[in-house]
Amino acid sequence: MLRSDNQQTSPSWSRQKEIRHCGNDLALSPRVIDPKPWASKQKAPNDWFKFYAGFNHEFAHRLLTSSGPNARIADPWNGSGATTTAAAAAGLTCQGFDLNPAMIVVGRSRLASGAVVATAAQKIAKMSFLRVNSDAVRVQKDDPLLQWFMPQSVESLRIIEQTIGEFVSRRKLLSRDALLAVATSRPLGCMLYVALFHTVRLLAEPFRASNPTWLQVPRSRARLRPSSETICQLFKKSVASIAAASKDGPPIEPKQKSTVSWGSSTALPLDDGSIDLIVTSPPYCTRLDYAVATATDLAVLGVGGEAYKQLRRTLLGTTTVPRTIDSPPDIWGKICRTLLEKVGAHQSKASKTYYTKSLYQYFQGLFQSIQEMQRVTKCGARCYVVVQDSYYKEIHVDLAGIVTEMALSSGFDFEAAWDFSHSQTYSGLNPHTQQYRSRRFPLETVVYLKRITR
Ligand SMILES: C[S@@+](CC[C@H](N)C(=O)[O-])C[C@H]1O[C@@H](n2cnc3c(N)ncnc32)[C@H](O)[C@@H]1O
Repeated sequence: MLRSDNQQTSPSWSRQKEIRHCGNDLALSPRVIDPKPWASKQKAPNDWFKFYAGFNHEFAHRLLTSSGPNARIADPWNGSGATTTAAAAAGLTCQGFDLNPAMIVVGRSRLASGAVVATAAQKIAKMSFLRVNSDAVRVQKDDPLLQWFMPQSVESLRIIEQTIGEFVSRRKLLSRDALLAVATSRPLGCMLYVALFHTVRLLAEPFRASNPTWLQVPRSRARLRPSSETICQLFKKSVASIAAASKDGPPIEPKQKSTVSWGSSTALPLDDGSIDLIVTSPPYCTRLDYAVATATDLAVLGVGGEAYKQLRRTLLGTTTVPRTIDSPPDIWGKICRTLLEKVGAHQSKASKTYYTKSLYQYFQGLFQSIQEMQRVTKCGARCYVVVQDSYYKEIHVDLAGIVTEMALSSGFDFEAAWDFSHSQTYSGLNPHTQQYRSRRFPLETVVYLKRITR
């Protein structure tokens, strides 16, 4: 087993070595670097959406370019699209999937070529966003943006949205749904939506806490009422800074071969045995709510109310829990079962009820996803899975060990793991979460698996 310099050895992983031999083709693996966004100085292509859970471009680029020009690559948890964007810049074929519509828009936006972004930015800078009389901008009573803004401001935001739709589709007076569908199917439209995400994020800043997954919803009268001029100026500024960012990193060519689609890691829309390489990172077991982190972006896309709740329920790592759970199957591995047992027996409030169910649900989704990775990969395919450990009270959640054991029982060989220790983390920002921990900073691990040849 290969481990990098600053690492501890986990006894559970030594056990893996006994279950299956490992390290066969390590010589063929590229050097794995620290995946965290701040660990590399290399600029990423189209780096215009800061995502705390994304990995850096250099990390993805090294792994992807080791796979040969005709390899088919996938990322089942694509997020802000580090994998799909790095593939697009390198001219490789890659399919990214995510369940969160906001992250799909972000991932797709980053596939826009520099020329398209530059031309659009020039045109947008000269546009005036005028009040128009159409259904597309009539503010609906249940518009999710009304949670933070007064109706006049929501109307201004929707006028910009309609202009984006018309600009991208080159059609007038389509319904809002039709404009949204056309605009978000193209990198250009997605790029303009990301500019609108930034605009709304900036305006909603007073309601945001230091934890990115927490956003306050104010009382009705405390909602914001920015003027249409302020909103338009901010939007134009956002487009201009996106255009500047597109010139910074490696270029994306107009004819790239990456796609980003809606899809669940537990049921990927991919053929059996079709993928050569997976580079990915599941939601961590840290109860960070990825839907809440993108609540304003989702509101821009019209996702609120029941649809928003439904999305939260479907994401891996959700904070909503099932009523009942079974006992964990042996196939999930010993580390996982021992962890669930320990959490279930913990004295603290809700450990046996809420937290055990929440973890169980997470591991159920994780296991299904690993089995799905096995189904879609070719024999001998390589998978790099980035995970972070965490603590439940004083109980260590060895996510890398759990992923490894689940993979071993799903038709993968364990090849190697690289550990990186971090001081910058959002759980590290909350002093209350520290009280039980023996080690202060989480460990980020890249687990390298190889699909068994049958
Ligand atoms: C850790 S982030 C991925 C970060 C990514 N590597 C990047 O560069 O931004 C995990 C992503 O998984 C998505 N997700 C959660 N559950 C999912 C599921 N069942 N299927 C697909 N995506 C899911 C979340 O929306 C989130 O964007």
